[in-house]
Amino acid sequence: MTNTELILEAKKARERAYAPYSNHKVGAALVTKDGKIYHGCNIENAAYSPTNCAERTAIFKAVSEGKKDFVAIAIVGGKNGVIEDFCPPCGVCRQVLAEFCKKDFLILLKKESRYKPTLPVAYIKSDEITVIMLIHPDFPD
Ligand code: THU
Repeated sequence: MTNTELILEAKKARERAYAPYSNHKVGAALVTKDGKIYHGCNIENAAYSPTNCAERTAIFKAVSEGKKDFVAIAIVGGKNGVIEDFCPPCGVCRQVLAEFCKKDFLILLKKESRYKPTLPVAYIKSDEITVIMLIHPDFPD
C-alpha cells in the first residue's frame, strides 16, 4: 500500500460521510501492520456534540475488531464537495491517535510538509509516543 493508494482510500471513505450540518465531509483510511485497511467518515448529529470524526470512526472500527497495531492514517476533507489542501486531525482525534500510535506512525495529509503537532493536553502513555504528520506531496486530484 503506497501513500497515494492510502489517500485514495480516504477519498473513497469520504463518500460515505454524513455531514448535513457542517457540509464538511471527511474521510480516513487507517492501515494496520498486517496490511488491513479500516475506512472511516465523519458522522454528524442534530445535537452536534455526538458527532464522530472520520479518524475516530476508523480507529474505533479497527480496535473493536481486535486490531491495535497501526502504520498510517490518511485523511482528506473539505466543505461543499471540495477537498482542502489540509485537513489535520482535531484535538480529540489526536488524543485517540496518541493512545494507540507508536513513534513512526504516519498521518498523511494532502500537501508537502512535515511537522510534529503538539497537543499540550494530550495524555501520552509514555515518552515513546510521538505523532508525526507527513503531508503527502503527490496527492492525486
Ligand atoms: N472532522 C473530522 O471528521 N475530522 C477532522 O479531522 C476535522 C473535523 C469533522 C467533524 C465535523 O463533522 C466536521 O468535520 C466539521 O468540523
